[in-house]
Amino acid sequence: MVLLFASPDDDPVAWTRALRRRLPELEIRVYPDLGDPEAIEAALVWSPPPGLLAALPRLRVILSLGAGVDRLLEDPTLPPEVPICRMVDPSLTRSMAEFVLLHVLRYHRFLDVYEEQQRRAQWRLLLPRPPEATVVGIMGLGELGTAAANLLRGHGFSVKGWSRTRKTLEGVKTYAGRDELDAFLADLSILVCLLPLTPETRGILDRGLFARLPEGARLVNLARGGHLVEEDLLEALESGRLAHATLDVFAREPLPADHPFWRHPKITVTPHAAAYSLPESGAEVVAENLRRLRAGRPLLHLVDRARGY
Ligand code: NAP
Ligand code: GLV
Repeated sequence: MVLLFASPDDDPVAWTRALRRRLPELEIRVYPDLGDPEAIEAALVWSPPPGLLAALPRLRVILSLGAGVDRLLEDPTLPPEVPICRMVDPSLTRSMAEFVLLHVLRYHRFLDVYEEQQRRAQWRLLLPRPPEATVVGIMGLGELGTAAANLLRGHGFSVKGWSRTRKTLEGVKTYAGRDELDAFLADLSILVCLLPLTPETRGILDRGLFARLPEGARLVNLARGGHLVEEDLLEALESGRLAHATLDVFAREPLPADHPFWRHPKITVTPHAAAYSLPESGAEVVAENLRRLRAGRPLLHLVDRARGY
């Protein structure tokens, strides 16, 4: 079988080595060296150029290097019948849960406030609170949201979660659907977004939602830039409705150098760095799906195109 690897962000050498160890007979071509496109049956991709997958006439599976597949689904030329499998991998999940914990701890221990005080050479102690006094709400209780919720719970935080369909998670107060969104938001200290970007969730982090959070809440968006209405965030920070925001994802990436988020005193910017698959771990997931494809067995982590995730 021939697999095409195409990603501007992942290391093709490390992935090729990790895949060859598991599937020595697999022929791997690295974009842009396609060779004969007719021979390619599988594509392992992150942000492939629009039209690339449509140019592979015998493609049987699209394997996403990312958990989110919104960029793939945005390509109007995406072959409609080819199954898409997204990345569900322990190393990706662990790194996301760790990143969530990092930012929750940062806010819980007032580091954003102390950084601001340092800029003004101000010495002022804020008395620490117990972790259960910090209420963290996670939007999206899938692979990543569930792992983050469990890690936070283990550290003693009060954790709430919101999803499309109802979930039961030990020690986590769960809410489902738009009807329960207000109750989910009502008492949060920190809101963490881990939703997939779909027509239903685009722009969900807007003025209306911020108004339903307690005054002074903090926002951590690690999902997609398309979830956030940027002007509404700036307004909410200006008015004090939100105290601070941590943003890892943006409508335009890389974030343009003149974007106001870069220099905003109440915004922390990270360069889409929250979570990645390590090749050794992710390659096992990919190899298992290629074995299944070859054997005609059901594929793992299939994307429901109609749902958008
Ligand atoms: P997932 O397993 O598919 O989970 C998605 C969760 O969102 C599910 O709980 C789902 O509800 C919920 N959801 C979807 N649509 C909803 C809606 N309209 N209303 C309420 N809840 C809704 O996805 P995942 O693997 O956790 O990944 C989540 C996202 O994280 C990805 O799509 C990607 O955008 C982002 N991500 C970012 C980075 C980074 O480095 N910044 C890295 C990896 C992933 P149900 O459970 O009811 O279906
Ligand atoms: C990264 O953003 C991913 O979707 O895995």
